[in-house]
Amino acid sequence: MPTRLRIAIQKSGRLYDDSLKLLKDCGIDFKNGINKLKTEADNFPMEVFFLRDDDIPQYVEDAVADIGIVGENVIYEKNKKVIVSEKLGFGKCRLSIAVGRSEQYTDCQYLEGRKIATTYPLLVGKFLQEKKIRAEIHEISGSVEIAPGIGLADAIADLVSSGSTLFMNGLKEVETIFHSEAVLIRHPLLGNEQQQILEKLLFRIRAVRKARHTKYILLNAPNENLREIISLLPGMKSPTVLPLAEPGWSSVHSVVNEDDFWEIIEKLKLAGAQGILVVPIEKMIL
Ligand code: PRP
Ligand code: ZN
Repeated sequence: MPTRLRIAIQKSGRLYDDSLKLLKDCGIDFKNGINKLKTEADNFPMEVFFLRDDDIPQYVEDAVADIGIVGENVIYEKNKKVIVSEKLGFGKCRLSIAVGRSEQYTDCQYLEGRKIATTYPLLVGKFLQEKKIRAEIHEISGSVEIAPGIGLADAIADLVSSGSTLFMNGLKEVETIFHSEAVLIRHPLLGNEQQQILEKLLFRIRAVRKARHTKYILLNAPNENLREIISLLPGMKSPTVLPLAEPGWSSVHSVVNEDDFWEIIEKLKLAGAQGILVVPIEKMIL
C-alpha cells in the first residue's frame, strides 16, 4: 500500500467545517463521503481521522496520526511532544473566565478563594499564579458552562468564540487568559515519504491562505495618471498595463491585500481610475 499522510481533525465542533474546507480548497477530495471515524482522499495520499480535538495532540505524539489540526489552546494545555508547523488563520477564539451575569465583578480579586470549573487546569493555573490569586480549580471534562448554574463552581474558564454559549447560560466574560487559533501540528519525526507529502500539503495550504487574503483588481486609467495609479498597486511583481482601444486610456491589472483594500480603492478613484473590478483569487503561488 502506498504511503499516506494520516491527519487528525476535530470530529465535530468549532474547527470541523473549516478544517475540511481547508483540505477541499487544497484540492483534496474524499471519495466515499465522510464516515464518522476515518476517510481516505482519492486524489492525494492522505487519510483523515475524526477525533475529539482535545485528544489530537496525544494521537500525534503517539504517531497514530502524523499531523493534526487543533486549536493552540489544546496544544498548550496538553503539553505534548508535537511541533506546530503552521498557523491556519481560522478557529480564532479565546480562553476566558466568565461569571454569572448579575455578579458584581470589578477585578480578578473577585476570584480569590472561589471555585473555577474548567477543562484547562494548566492554563488557568498559570493565570492565577501570575495574578497571585488563590482559587480552587475544578477540572471537568465538558459542559463547563452549566457549572455555575448548578452550584458546582462560582466561575468558569472556557473557550469563547461567538459568545453565544456564555450568553445562553447567563454568564458574562470577565477576563481573557489566552488567544488561540487553529494550527497544523506534526509528529517530531516523520518518515521521508510522509515528510514529502507534508511539504506538498503545506505548499498548497500557503497558496490557499495567501489567496484568501488577496483580491485581483482590474481598472481603467487615464494615461496621464498611470504613474500615480501604478504606485498604489505594487502587484506580485508589478502591475500589468495594457492599452485600451480608446486612445489615452490603459487597463491596469494587479492584486491587492484585503487589509488595505478600501483605502487603496479610494485613492485609485481620486487618481481618476474608472470601471474598477475586484475578483476573488482561488490560489496564489509566489
Ligand atoms: C468550545 C467551548 C464552548 C464553545 C464556545 O467548545 O467549550 O462550548 O466552543 O463557542 P461560542 O462562544 O461560539 O458559543 P469546543 O469547540 O472546543 O468543543 P468541545 O467542548 O466539544 O471540545
Ligand atoms: Zn475542545
